[in-house]
Amino acid sequence: MTVEATGIHRAFGGVQALRDASFAARPGEIHALAGENGAGKSTLIKVLCGVLRADAGSVAVRGRVATAFQELSLLPDLTVAENLLLAAPPRGRLGLVRRGHLTAEASRVLALYGVSEIDPRSPARDLSVSQRQVVELVRVLATEPDVVFLDEPTAALAEREVDWLAGHMRRLRDAGACVVFTSHRWREIERLADRVTVFRNGTHVATRERLTEDEAVTLMTGRTLDATYPDVSGIEAGEKALTVTGLTSGHLRDVSFDLRRGEILGVGGLAGQGQRDLFLTLFGARRPVAGRLLVGQAERSFRRPADAVRAGIAYVPEDRKAEGLLLPLSIRDNIALTTLARRSRAGFIRRRAEKAEISGVAAKLAIGAGRATSQAAGTLSGGNQQKTVMARWLLADADVYLLYDVTRGVDAATKHDIYHLIAGLARSGKAVLFHSSETEEIAHLCHRVLVLREGRIAAELAGPVGDAEQIVAASIRESADA
Ligand SMILES: Nc1ncnc2c1ncn2[C@@H]1O[C@H](COP(=O)(O)OP(=O)(O)O)[C@@H](O)[C@H]1O
Ligand SMILES: [Mg+2]
Repeated sequence: MTVEATGIHRAFGGVQALRDASFAARPGEIHALAGENGAGKSTLIKVLCGVLRADAGSVAVRGRVATAFQELSLLPDLTVAENLLLAAPPRGRLGLVRRGHLTAEASRVLALYGVSEIDPRSPARDLSVSQRQVVELVRVLATEPDVVFLDEPTAALAEREVDWLAGHMRRLRDAGACVVFTSHRWREIERLADRVTVFRNGTHVATRERLTEDEAVTLMTGRTLDATYPDVSGIEAGEKALTVTGLTSGHLRDVSFDLRRGEILGVGGLAGQGQRDLFLTLFGARRPVAGRLLVGQAERSFRRPADAVRAGIAYVPEDRKAEGLLLPLSIRDNIALTTLARRSRAGFIRRRAEKAEISGVAAKLAIGAGRATSQAAGTLSGGNQQKTVMARWLLADADVYLLYDVTRGVDAATKHDIYHLIAGLARSGKAVLFHSSETEEIAHLCHRVLVLREGRIAAELAGPVGDAEQIVAASIRESADA
């Protein structure tokens, strides 16, 4: 392999641009790198060509490398000739060049690449965007690289210039070079690429020789969600963890159900049918008007969330910043928060043991991709903040988990981690009540689904339902009858 990268992690502050990313390209191929905006293509290219360091992982690139970055890098005050020959002089050039020679040499190089309408004496700032792109590309091509990275090289080019570039890419490829490029135009990828690699959320999704545009879009957006859900069907339900009878609170009307250990019980329905009232009431953040609650065998009445926590109930909300984390505190301290009470009750906090335990949980959840847990939680991306909240509750070792829209605003890869985390909770005998604004998730993750409508349970579906349409239909069926 000419280009090979494995296990690459790279973050910018709280943004995980690359996570466990891999990529490989070989000599004599044109390899397209496809992905949505923010998928990490540019960051990968910068890591591959060495202008950015990876936080972790290994990179091997063999041969002479040249890169055309997405952000053009011509110096505006220098002439075309100076930009072409001084910043990255072509192979075999001597150090000292007189200006006249410089212009002549630049003319020669431009002519060699079939560019006739750009004056080598013009300052770069006087060129149009597409002319600047062409100069940038000539500069890269003229180094006769073994490996060339072209990051969105055609974004500013007209049709004719795209043809020009395509010709040069093929010529390099046929001469045995490895040509890697990115483009948002599928037509160009289809026409030029020998192989395509798709990135999504900072990680490698697929590398293919043949790929239709539809398949590519599916891979880029991750809309083939089926495969990403864990199989929850084999988990055995145990004894009752929660028994709710006649609960009336806020919009909730006379709601009764039970939830068993090992069970993921979905709460669905159209938005605003009492789902939030149910979760807040079970967590003691809202006083019910009527109803009984058993936690295990014991009847409980919560005055405040602290009562619920003591009874073994955990609540993970969707709004991390408002309810979940103390952002200036370290990741470790945030994870430790709920467990401090439990620990100090034992007499003293064993600092080192706690540190090890917390790092273990953080690693298991891949929080911050191996970042130190001493960093402030505010530096984490949204998805990682959400996982930190969950890690905290994992250590707190609650019996019942109330998960309210926990994947909202979270990237696809993190969602995937969270799904597996939830399945893991059930597998370890925890009881999970799960609401999501994405009905798909309820359809795939839950053993049973309660559909709420106007504060009442309108239907109960056996899961995994698999098909979100069924839940949606149950959400509106009765209102259609009424
Ligand atoms: N220098 C940077 N500082 C902060 N965030 C960055 C920086 N470069 C990239 N990112 C972030 O990293 C993610 C991946 O970006 P990028 O590699 O440019 O994706 P792509 O090229 O696929 O559009 C994005 O969320 C982007 O905002
Ligand atoms: Mg980019």
